[in-house]
Amino acid sequence: HKTTYILAIESSCDDTSAAVLANDKVLSNVVANQEIHRKYGGVVPELASRAHQQNIVPVVHQALAQANIDKKALSAIAFTRGPGLMGSLLVGTSFAKSMSMGLEIPLIEVNHMQAHILVHFIKDENQKTPTFPFLAMTISGGHTQIVLVKDFLEMEILGQTLDDAVGEAFDKSAKLLGLPYPGGPLIDKLAKKGNPRAYPFPKPKVDGLNFSFSGLKTSILYYIQKQTKANPNFLEENLEDVCASIQYTILEILMEKLEKAVNQTGIKQVAIGGGVAANSGIRNRLAAAEHEKGWQTYIPKFEFCTDNAAMIGIVGYLKYLQKNFSAKNVVAKARYVI
Ligand code: KG4
Ligand code: ZN
Repeated sequence: HKTTYILAIESSCDDTSAAVLANDKVLSNVVANQEIHRKYGGVVPELASRAHQQNIVPVVHQALAQANIDKKALSAIAFTRGPGLMGSLLVGTSFAKSMSMGLEIPLIEVNHMQAHILVHFIKDENQKTPTFPFLAMTISGGHTQIVLVKDFLEMEILGQTLDDAVGEAFDKSAKLLGLPYPGGPLIDKLAKKGNPRAYPFPKPKVDGLNFSFSGLKTSILYYIQKQTKANPNFLEENLEDVCASIQYTILEILMEKLEKAVNQTGIKQVAIGGGVAANSGIRNRLAAAEHEKGWQTYIPKFEFCTDNAAMIGIVGYLKYLQKNFSAKNVVAKARYVI
């Protein structure tokens, strides 16, 4: 059987990424982070799309070079159609369309959130692969969802955030602590040295499998203001404990809803995906749930949690097998439900 080579392109937010897959194996996965947003404390859409335009050609070249694949050997081009920032999506979409037309090979659109879940089907000797049906919790800077995955492309959202995404909760909390963007990884790092039960922040009461994170940010703000009034050095002296307590509260919220979803569906296979799946705390909690709760848990490799083109490539490969191709006049879709 002939090997299928997919070139995948991801440009939905602030990372420009290209990957080459040989069937379900990743040959290369190049990610260019955009430093420019750091000084603004968050992603500036206009600057993101400009940076994508600068990065896309070198990133694609690098992905092909690292995979040692000539572009003429490619079977198809896969790209992120949405959801994401329109100006960012346009760069990857236009580039993918042009390349597929130039090479006269199929074009395959990919839903970014499905990719965060299907990343578990990348072939890797050290990783387990879930079987259908399974539950997936997608936790990123833009989304927080619990999804029932019935088949590769057949998914149902069981619950989601009613306001902020969990990654936003990390980033906005970090901003209150004076930490640079994106603050999620920094909270994770500082939390390792702190006491998670030092400051009990309230958990929101939300029905069903939905989430809410906007209230947490407010209670952290009030708490810090109050403590700083009594002791101006409160934050400097207690930063690690505050980070550990914020992370603990967020993880409690996530684990409670996951447990509810397992009880409600009777499905004990639980996968996570998205940038926040890189968090060491959630990775530990999920790994522990194997013996503590009898679940089978699936945690992506670290580099496949935050935005990357390898996850777009695996969906591209799965769709290629089904000959599930896109028309050449396909357009980017900022809001694109699973
Ligand atoms: O999936 P992703 O790269 O982009 C979106 O599709 O949104 O997720 C980015 C989010 C950011 O909010 C970032 O702070 C968060 O993932 N993140 C983390 C960690 N690494 C990335 N949050 C907590 N702990 C981490 N280690
Ligand atoms: Zn993402």
